[in-house]
Amino acid sequence: MKQHVIMVDSLTERLAEAVSAISFDRLFCLTDTNTLQLCWPLISDVPVMKGSVMITIGATDNNKTIESLMHVWESLQKGGATRHSLLVNLGGGMVTDLGGFAASTFKRGIKYINIPTTLLSQVDASVGGKTGINFGGLKNEIGVFNLSESVLLAPDFLRTLDDYNLLSGYAEMLKHGLLDSKEHLTELLAFDPTTVRGGDVALGQQLVRMVECSVAVKQRIVEGDPMEFGVRKALNFGHTAGHAIESLAMEDNRTVLHGYAVAWGLVMELYMSAVKCGFPSQVFHQVEAYVREYYGKFHYECRHYDRLIEFIRHDKKNVGKVINFTLLGGIGDIRINQACNMVEIEQMLDYYRES
Ligand code: GLY
Repeated sequence: MKQHVIMVDSLTERLAEAVSAISFDRLFCLTDTNTLQLCWPLISDVPVMKGSVMITIGATDNNKTIESLMHVWESLQKGGATRHSLLVNLGGGMVTDLGGFAASTFKRGIKYINIPTTLLSQVDASVGGKTGINFGGLKNEIGVFNLSESVLLAPDFLRTLDDYNLLSGYAEMLKHGLLDSKEHLTELLAFDPTTVRGGDVALGQQLVRMVECSVAVKQRIVEGDPMEFGVRKALNFGHTAGHAIESLAMEDNRTVLHGYAVAWGLVMELYMSAVKCGFPSQVFHQVEAYVREYYGKFHYECRHYDRLIEFIRHDKKNVGKVINFTLLGGIGDIRINQACNMVEIEQMLDYYRES
């Protein structure tokens, strides 16, 4: 099934069309405290949105919890939602993941639309039907696959993002470039996403075009394997190490945006790809230099290895005791289910720590 993902020229018009195309009895809109203030005013005047029941949860990933989920379920229930109600998720990946999961489980599933407001959620989280919450200290531990009715990508939101959020989303775009082609990756490595904040129209348009290209890579892969039995594991490139970094940071109360952890994870897993699958070292070092320049470095010590490896063990790609990575033999040469042993994993951690 193909998900309807569109880059919108006018968010208000396309939202009106998307909502009107669905038959529903009551409309709900989920925001977090930030998007309620900053993004809801952009769509609150759309006639179809008037009268929608607002549900708001706390902003940032620490709110991607069972408690927030219960709040959404309770608000749907108290607001009189039925199986024929519709939920519009307006926010970043936390809102679209949690809202998608709430919609997928409420009365065994109601329809939902995603309006991603960050670069990260536009190019990744809101597309492809992964929904869920964090649980037991692990990211996205509980969830289901269920596509939204549509995803509306609005360039207007990109202009409001700070450098950190632009770079966070851009890391997923780098991943898509690595999974796609040399030309795609080369364009990404020659671009500084933070420059769009200067208001230059041509740079803004270039980013929008690159977002479309990035989403097309993701959609192509998801369509081939919606439930991640095979090739969709490619989209996890950089995430085995990246999620471990993110979980370690969360445990130590260090704030790390998802995309930054992914960027560092890409470097680690490109190292592993070079060692195990012959990924060209020149391209590896180009990506490594880009990540160092824009994302800096995540510092850890040898005493953190046990914890990092413990997080890696919980990765959803693992089977029994076998630790699987997605690796690359070259740009676009995807190698899923690459079993890596403890020595190889420690060498990867050593490489990154010492580099
Ligand atoms: N974020 C990876 C995926 O959607 O499969």
